[in-house]
Amino acid sequence: MSNAAAVPTASPFLAACRGEAPAHTPVWFMRQAGRSLPEYKQVREGTTMLEACSTPELVTEITMQPVRRYGVDAAIFFSDIVVPLAAIGVDVKIVPGVGPVVAEPFRTEDDVKRLRNLDPCDVPYITEAIGLLVKELGDTPLIGFAGAPFTLASYLIEGGPSRDHAKTKALMKSRPEIWHGIASRLAAICGEFLRVQVEAGAQAVQLFDSWAGALSEADYRRFALPHSTAALMGVAQSVPRIHFGVGTGHLLEAMTETGAEVLGIDYRIPLDSVTRRFAAKRLPDKVLQGNLDPAMLFAEDDALIAETDAVLEAAKGAKGHIFNLGHGVLPETDPAKLKLVVDHVHEVTAR
Ligand code: CP3
Repeated sequence: MSNAAAVPTASPFLAACRGEAPAHTPVWFMRQAGRSLPEYKQVREGTTMLEACSTPELVTEITMQPVRRYGVDAAIFFSDIVVPLAAIGVDVKIVPGVGPVVAEPFRTEDDVKRLRNLDPCDVPYITEAIGLLVKELGDTPLIGFAGAPFTLASYLIEGGPSRDHAKTKALMKSRPEIWHGIASRLAAICGEFLRVQVEAGAQAVQLFDSWAGALSEADYRRFALPHSTAALMGVAQSVPRIHFGVGTGHLLEAMTETGAEVLGIDYRIPLDSVTRRFAAKRLPDKVLQGNLDPAMLFAEDDALIAETDAVLEAAKGAKGHIFNLGHGVLPETDPAKLKLVVDHVHEVTAR
């Protein structure tokens, strides 16, 4: 600990995660690899998403594509939140244009038992891909990730993507023991999936609780927070942990209790209002990640730059800032717009 504190962190991304002053504000984008890149579409041709995720050379190539093209300050591992579920034998497919679809949804006590623990031997391709990546990435850190128990459970219980998460919420209230059975097993699986990635060389992790915003604060605290906390505990004290959810403005205080070092903020809440809220409630200052609206990438350059500057300005009072979008890159995005944002953030924040 004492040695590490004395040496300044060279990577702007890792420095910002630790609350140190980086050489410039680091940038990466959620969903930076994927359908917005022509080179991605080319290498993915003829392969399903889950096949691609279990082919180390392909994972390495796709993870590197946005790093090469944009010069982002971190790579996000090319995988999906349902990969660990497929690895323990859950019949799940990723349907293009739809998302994860589960053949036999999970709703009963017997279903809880279908969720066995993840063993590192279930995902040898993850360890192999990260080994290859760490060599190719050089000084650029790799972010590993997992889906949070609530978001994963929603796919398992609903059987696919859901707007209202009705079956999930109903199960929580009618059969809390089944809910907690499913969510606690998912927490163990997520924790292990994160650990495997860190052991293989990932230097930070992000826990995506994409759909947690559908819960009230009381329900989030009772049904989701303990399980997210348990999942993140798997890599506590080893690497910085980022926690992100969509539409979670009402949950941010509760989300800080998961222990994550960095809080990802969606585009609906200005970053300065988060800093002010935490200060008013005497909560510890947090490093914030975010939060340009992905739709702004469709605006004309001047408007895009103005919105980017507004995010940078709003982040000034925070303990640290990692520039990102407020959710993932939309498929129709012009890669030139992302490059413009990266170059602009680097230029205007260089110290
Ligand atoms: O950020 C990255 O580029 C890294 C890779 C990554 C993917 N999925 C690749 C992917 C990450 C971090 C994820 C996480 C993920 N997957 C989340 C959490 C983040 C979020 O967006 O809220 C969720 C909810 C999923 C589930 C999922 N997988 C969805 C909703 C979809 C989109 C389905 C569609 O086609 O509209 C996927 C598929 C998926 N995951 C794609 C990619 C690049 C598209 C697959 C393709 O190209 O066919």
